[in-house]
This record gives sequence, structure tokens and C-alpha cells, in this order.
Amino acid sequence: MKISASFLTIDNIDNVNKLVNCDIDYLHLDIMDGIFVNNKNEVLDVPHIKPLDIHLMVSDVYKYIDKYKTLNPLYITFHYETGVDILSVINYIKKFNIKVGLSIKPSTKVEEIIPYLPYLDLVLVMSVEPGKGGQTFIMDSINKIKKLKELKGNYVIEVDGGINDSTIKYVSDADIVVVGSYITSGNYEERIKNLKEKIYG
Ligand code: DX5
Ligand code: ZN
Repeated sequence: MKISASFLTIDNIDNVNKLVNCDIDYLHLDIMDGIFVNNKNEVLDVPHIKPLDIHLMVSDVYKYIDKYKTLNPLYITFHYETGVDILSVINYIKKFNIKVGLSIKPSTKVEEIIPYLPYLDLVLVMSVEPGKGGQTFIMDSINKIKKLKELKGNYVIEVDGGINDSTIKYVSDADIVVVGSYITSGNYEERIKNLKEKIYG
């Protein structure tokens, strides 16, 4: 299981630098437009030491892909609930040799995205309402991860929201866990070590 660290709750670049130098696999960039979710942010200056995993919580998906593809991310993930033509966006992201992820909110069922699974590199299960860090893990996410694993696609399963040293046990079927406030509200290295102990024993 890989750890993708979210720095949504960090507000200074020194701490972001400290985070990317820790033992994490990816840096998770949360991008919000104030429309798809209430909050709004912009992150164009990040240290590219770890592969970037971009999570677009935006309505105007194309505009933000164009903006953030310049960071050379490994993954760009957008939301199923945006109402855009999903296959067109998938193909658009792939054109830039960027891996593509599709994310579902807590109220969206896995069944709804089954037609798109063959085209995806990643499926992101939101285990909190998208839009802010520090929320409580939603238990129903466990069933979604299980379903996605049973469907055995070529995608990796990522889970995002409310993961800490006690909830990580629920998501052992996921390939990537996004962790934000649990890491950033303490000693980063120590918190990451705690998570890894829970993952690998
Ligand atoms: C929530 C974001 C998450 C968030 C995770 O909308 O997509 O990536 O930063 O933060 P925690 O781990 O604090 O739930
Ligand atoms: Zn996220």
C-alpha cells in the first residue's frame, strides 16, 4: 500500500518541503474551485521530489487539466459528479501521457462508474465529502473498495479522507491511501512511521 500525502492543511512552503522529503510515495495535490466544492485554492508551486497525484475537485475540468498538466503529474483525477462527458475527459488526460483517475463522492455508487472502469488507471473513493481536510472517515467506503477490488480491473484503488492510524485498518484493500491532517498535525516522520507499522505490522 502506498501513501500519498495531502498538504491541504499546510499553509507554508517550508512544511510542504519537509513533507515531500519524508518517506511518502506520492504528493497529493487537492485543487478546489469554489464551485464543485465551497473552498477554493491554487497550487502551482510545488517541489517535484515525489510523483504528483492531482485531485481536481472542480467543475471546469478541462481548464484545470490545462493548468495543472504543466506540473507533469503522474495522475490527474477528476470527479464523476461534474457532469462532463467522462470518456472525453479520460481521453484528453491520456493524450498528455498522464495517468487518469476518476473519483466518486460518498453518495455515488460504484455501479455508476462501471462503464468507465476499463479506461481508468485509478479509481478514487472519497471517504469524506470532498472539500476540506480533517473530517471523519465514512465507513461505507469500505464496501466500495471491496467492490472495486472484486471487479478486478487494471486500475489502482485510492481512498481519500479521514485516514489515520486507527482507520487505516479498514482500507487494507486499497492500493493508495491519501493522508492529510493525520500526518500534518503531528511530527510528520513519526506519523508516517505509525501508518507504515499499521500497514506492514
Ligand atoms: C478532501 C481532500 C483530501 C483531504 C484529506 O476533500 O480531497 O485529500 O486533504 O485530508 P484528511 O486526511 O485530513 O482527511
Ligand atoms: Zn484529495
